[in-house]
Amino acid sequence: MYTKQDEQRLYEQAKQLLSSNVADAGRQADQLREVINYADWKYYVQSDPALSDFEYDSLFKQLKHLEDKYPELVTADSPTQRVAKGLSERFPTVSHLVPMLSLDNTYNAEDLTDWDRRCRELAGTDTIEYCVEPKYDGASISIIYDNGHLSRGATRGDGVMGEDVTANIRQIKAIPLSAELVKQGISQIEIRGEIVIHKSVFEAINKQRVAEGQSPLANPRNAASGTLRILDPAEVKKRGLNAILYHISDYTLNDGAQRPEGLNTHYGSLQWLYSLGFPTPAKEMKRFSHIEDVIKYCSEFEEIRDTLAFEVDGLVIKVNEFALQDKMGMTSHHPRWAVAYKFKARQATSKLRRVEFQVGRVGTITPVAKIDPVHIGGVTVTSVSLFNEDVVREKDLRIGDTVLVERAGDVIPYIVKPLTELRNGEEEPIVFPKTCPACNSELEKQQDEAAWRCININCPVQVVERMIHFASKDAMDIRSMGNANVQKFFEDKILLDIPGMYHIDWDRVQQLGGFGEKSVTNLKQSIEQSKVQPLNRLIFGLGIRHIGETTAKTLASAVSDITEFYSWDIEKLSMLEDIGPKVATSVVDFFARPENRAMIEKLAASGVNLKNEHKGQMKTDGELAGKTFLFTGTLSQFKRSDAEARVEAMGGAILGGVSSKLNYLVAGTDAGSKLEKAKKLGTVNILTEQEFLSLIEGA
Ligand code: IVH
Repeated sequence: MYTKQDEQRLYEQAKQLLSSNVADAGRQADQLREVINYADWKYYVQSDPALSDFEYDSLFKQLKHLEDKYPELVTADSPTQRVAKGLSERFPTVSHLVPMLSLDNTYNAEDLTDWDRRCRELAGTDTIEYCVEPKYDGASISIIYDNGHLSRGATRGDGVMGEDVTANIRQIKAIPLSAELVKQGISQIEIRGEIVIHKSVFEAINKQRVAEGQSPLANPRNAASGTLRILDPAEVKKRGLNAILYHISDYTLNDGAQRPEGLNTHYGSLQWLYSLGFPTPAKEMKRFSHIEDVIKYCSEFEEIRDTLAFEVDGLVIKVNEFALQDKMGMTSHHPRWAVAYKFKARQATSKLRRVEFQVGRVGTITPVAKIDPVHIGGVTVTSVSLFNEDVVREKDLRIGDTVLVERAGDVIPYIVKPLTELRNGEEEPIVFPKTCPACNSELEKQQDEAAWRCININCPVQVVERMIHFASKDAMDIRSMGNANVQKFFEDKILLDIPGMYHIDWDRVQQLGGFGEKSVTNLKQSIEQSKVQPLNRLIFGLGIRHIGETTAKTLASAVSDITEFYSWDIEKLSMLEDIGPKVATSVVDFFARPENRAMIEKLAASGVNLKNEHKGQMKTDGELAGKTFLFTGTLSQFKRSDAEARVEAMGGAILGGVSSKLNYLVAGTDAGSKLEKAKKLGTVNILTEQEFLSLIEGA
């Protein structure tokens, strides 16, 4: 849709329009429309706003003003003409074939024993076979197949009507778009299930969000249900949702068709669906004929809940025979033939006593709620991050509030909401500090950011946090350094800054006490070893804002020495894969600062590797010496790794992205954005695979 260059240009165009007028009203209106459309795309489709609300509103007002003044300038597709229809076009509402009921809950053995007794009374039998399966914590959906084709997918909504999210459901690879249902005699079927997000995918999304300065999503359930409602199916696809189907709510047989054999029991129906390619808990479900065995299984399963790939908040126990289910029927809220056994709550209430403001590595001030200790899922929680001021305002949190705290699985605890009905009028607002709690410097807030920041580079907390980050496992991996040691060395003035790690006065360390010879030797050794870490680890370790591990790798592979970045500008950085204006600006700012350059010089003087190993190994005498290559698209005669190895063997180097440093781009079939970039740049020699072959053979 928009290339990196488009984005860069439009971002700058927006900034320019905010600060000055264009002489020609027609051109100004065109430019405004272009940037507003771009901002809409970023906001609604990418969920990654390019402009602050204030900036967006002023641009919109400018355009409205111009169009009011010169009505001949209005175009049919102007963003001002969309307002009547409403930008946040919702999904259409649809009726479920059968209302989506919820389940009655049980919490202990006694509840289950009671439920079993009622079931046997209702069924009029002594024993009932139960089927037990996980209760997945995601977003419930209903999907319909007509003549074997997925025809509709809807959210639960109010149970009777839901939102039609078919386009998004179609992005979920676990859900077949068609199945051999007609052969099975089924003309229409409605299946219920849960959209879930893999815990590891959830963690990856949050890691990315935090690295980009956004607040993390609360739990996998919210991430799944939020994703299901994203308006752009392509974005949904990227999020890697999964699905588990656990109930057939309705089906119609073809004229004269026999009911498939499996459709007599719940167990059979999920096996049957599974055999047709549907994701069901076929492997996880268990059958029991005595409630004591169900109870035993429930407590065993609760123990292993954290080892599962998806968040599970309980088990569901269902009467297995469909004939019995029909006999037992349902109340207006839930079926009588099924019940949920809920695991111990991972939510609890507590009192919000005060809010501390913590200073992060890059100066971000994070409000942290201090609450009365509360046990949630085997852990005592006393501190809960509130992320930023916007979160506090949105939730309307106040000191003295009773708050609902949730801890989903391994996910960090968060405050769901204040229980406003329990307020007594003595609650006090949370006041954000104007100055840094660590160094007292005035805090700043950028217009497009939610967080306040301390911009004092020498703020002691930031200095310590930067050193901790530098030494951390994913950065320079100075094993024995640890948070406590950094803190202690800093307090004792043994360690004042990152370069100081390589000049520790070991006599003083030994005087400190608590450090045996062995620990000193280990520490010395891990410091020494860190000097040869690859460049990407150093770049990550420097703690440049918005630079996560992946971006650090991209940056490292673009240079042969870190100091090359001293002369890189935003434009050049933006040419690299996945680097946008925000990240590029941050990199330029970092390397422009004299104190950062001084730090890099000191590291170099201590023998820390500043070079890109990959390029360091570059042969200077090969036929391709000094030449840089990048492969894109599919090659037919080589595996990409083999082609790259050929280049390197001949002294050439492989780059990570298209930049002005790139000499040759070898474009296979289906080459995409890299090829476009290279063409635009105009300085790159673009080769077909055949041309590349002749080059290396003729070289
Ligand atoms: S059976 C009539 N089975 O839990 C059948 N529900 O609290 C009703 N859920 O709305 C659903 N895992 O969204 C069923 N294995 C499972 C489930 C499950 C999760 C959800 C479902 C339901 C909610 C009830």
